[in-house]
Amino acid sequence: MSVQKKTDVKVITTHQLQNMKERGEKISMLTAYDFSMATILDAAGIDVILVGDSASNVMAGHETTLPITLDQMIYHAQSVIRGTKRAFVVVDMPFGSYQGNSSEALRSAIRIMKESGAHGVKLEGGAEIKESITRILSAGVPVMGHLGLTPQSIYKFGTYTVRAKAEAEAQKLIEDAQLLQELGCFAIVLEKIPSELAKRVAESLEIPIIGIGAGPHVDGQVLVVHDMLGINKEFKPRFLRRYADLHTIMTDAVQNYIKDVKDRDFPTEKEAY
Ligand code: KIV
Repeated sequence: MSVQKKTDVKVITTHQLQNMKERGEKISMLTAYDFSMATILDAAGIDVILVGDSASNVMAGHETTLPITLDQMIYHAQSVIRGTKRAFVVVDMPFGSYQGNSSEALRSAIRIMKESGAHGVKLEGGAEIKESITRILSAGVPVMGHLGLTPQSIYKFGTYTVRAKAEAEAQKLIEDAQLLQELGCFAIVLEKIPSELAKRVAESLEIPIIGIGAGPHVDGQVLVVHDMLGINKEFKPRFLRRYADLHTIMTDAVQNYIKDVKDRDFPTEKEAY
């Protein structure tokens, strides 16, 4: 039996994502943090919406993803869920909500699922968070892994440069990916690693591998929606393709509005009661 929402739209499930990998259909994934954006992405046909902890950067203006709280992630997730009919919605577990001990990890994951209505959670890391992942999975919560550049560990890495170029780190990433599959994760995000390494992981694992800065040979792609829409001007990594220049479009619109107000061109009689 497939899960159906009241609208009768056939929703995306982990099962369907697995089928997409098996038949070679690439998975599309973007971030969203609010109702309006989620409505647009969902109606456009996106497969997976990630309520990323990148909300800490693009919504709240923090330098890193570390400050965002569990309550704030739940608020964003609730808004996204209200705008979604079809997409599978995954929510990032924020820094500090799962690394400490597995009971706290389970409590955090259950809060996300219960209070937002999300369909799964994403955690950063491999062997070091094995107990937390196991505990969350045992409660029936789908878990997406995240390896490579893991922004919650930025102060350990010291930079946002490409990860796993050295053999030892590449080997650890391969072992971690294997472990996440064995534990029962339904998919893994690989961030900013060499294309050949991502290819190797995607080919050797059965579960879908979603890349961001991990090249074309993976099972799907994810981008931060503000980056791909060109709302952020400054962030220009090599892996980012901009599909619009909303920064310019929005700035022009706001400047035109200001001018019309100052010039007494807005509102006209037709725009008044
Ligand atoms: O928080 C986020 O937006 C992410 C993506 C970069 C994968 O984790």
